[in-house]
Amino acid sequence: MIIARTAVELRAALDSKMGSVGFVPTMGALHIGHRTLIERARVENDVVVVSIFVNPTQFLPGEDLSKYPRREDADFKICKLSGVDVLFYPDVNTMYGKDEVSIKAPDIRGYILEGASRPGHFDGVLTVVMKLFNLVRASRVYFGKKDAQQLSLITQMVENLFMQVEIVAVDTVRESDGLALSSRNVYLSQEDRVEALKLSASLKRATHLVMQEVRETKAIRNAMMDILQPLNVEYVAIVNRRFEAISEVIIGDTIVLVAARAGSTRLIDNVWM
Ligand code: PAF
Repeated sequence: MIIARTAVELRAALDSKMGSVGFVPTMGALHIGHRTLIERARVENDVVVVSIFVNPTQFLPGEDLSKYPRREDADFKICKLSGVDVLFYPDVNTMYGKDEVSIKAPDIRGYILEGASRPGHFDGVLTVVMKLFNLVRASRVYFGKKDAQQLSLITQMVENLFMQVEIVAVDTVRESDGLALSSRNVYLSQEDRVEALKLSASLKRATHLVMQEVRETKAIRNAMMDILQPLNVEYVAIVNRRFEAISEVIIGDTIVLVAARAGSTRLIDNVWM
């Protein structure tokens, strides 16, 4: 595995390889969810690139940038064992200069739900993703469905800016008890972890209701809120794939999302129907 720390090193590493490039952008603290993305990229491409960069522009003042988990040794090992060809591990000066051009998330879709809780977050995500896409020039890029709004906005950016890359959406990986894997799960105390299970339990309830032919989103939302009590719930939302609120579930075009705090840890989860 080649470790590239600068744009020049990355280009040299990629120029030494032939064939299609599958890319998995990450912020490190790799878990089985990331490994699933890497495995999929491995199967579908000749060359697999992973980036690890904790992107400062997607954190708001007061968020967990400084304490975001960083696990260089373990992450490098996971990449090597997963068959990654090139690991891009830039520092902040490689990725950002002063007074730069940046990408602005769309006014509505980028500023509702996660974007309302974290205004400007998606501007930072789209900007770094654009930079990474331009550096890696991948054929396919792999993202988890857990960050559904991020995935939807990146897909929209690729469409709106006529970018030549395929976005591959990969199912969320869960613990056996239903908890969606996240690098932030390390913040959960044992008590928080039990509380955190209410997110996936509420989504299970939503799925169950839909299987019983319930389509009215208000009823589904209410049933989810009953399960989520007494968590500090930021939102329960039922939207179509364009992230527009809907009053009736349409199978094949619905995402049910929840964001809530277990203790002081903010968690998100969703189910695609
Ligand atoms: O999902 C993430 O880990 C990050 O938001 C991403 C896409 C790597 C951009 O920093």
